[in-house]
Amino acid sequence: MQGSIYTAFSDMVVEKMGMEQFNELIEKTNPPSQGVYTSGEQYLDSELVNMIQALSVKTGIVTEALVEKFGRYLFNKLYDASPIHISTINNLKSFLLAIDNLIHSEVTRLHPKAYLPTFEYETIDDNTLIMYYSSKRKLCHLCIGLIFGAADQFNEKVLIDHSECMHHGASRCKLVINFKGQNE
Ligand code: HEM
Repeated sequence: MQGSIYTAFSDMVVEKMGMEQFNELIEKTNPPSQGVYTSGEQYLDSELVNMIQALSVKTGIVTEALVEKFGRYLFNKLYDASPIHISTINNLKSFLLAIDNLIHSEVTRLHPKAYLPTFEYETIDDNTLIMYYSSKRKLCHLCIGLIFGAADQFNEKVLIDHSECMHHGASRCKLVINFKGQNE
């Protein structure tokens, strides 16, 4: 996965728990990179997976919740470092609709080695959007955290119903997003 995801992860751990804890994670998981990440490079997915598992053991927070928290944190980092002009998009729904063929497609253009998830969309009504998430990585909880992060960015509240999940045998995850709900 792209180094920007790893630099965000290490920033989050250092910011919330301190440098010592990050060093402890590196010691425990012994990643090939030794925990030295550069945003434009690619790193093994297993490095992130192992660090999240170790962090889950350390904090007692289940991995799904940790991944979601990370997604929320990651959003700001990705948004601030966006390679394209996305600040003209001024509401959450338009932003979510732009991920697949505007934002992520630009990431693929700039970083041909990057593997991005695929989103398919279905608009139910003004307040309800379905996003179908597909990825070999099955990072649906990261996706949910990112959507909550985007909602914070636009000062909007959403409810997300994750009714079908790849971890439970579905071919893609179904995320039903309600734009009038209360966050958490
Ligand atoms: C709500 C907004 C967003 C959602 C739901 C989303 C979703 C995701 C997910 C779930 C992944 C993990 C990879 C996978 O599932 O296979 C990912 C990766 C990534 N996204 Fe997004 N994303 C969002 C916004 C952004 C923005 C604003 C940017 C920056 C312009 C961005 C750039 C990236 C990059 C660089 C990766 C890593 C690609 C790789 O590892 O090779 N995303 N995104």
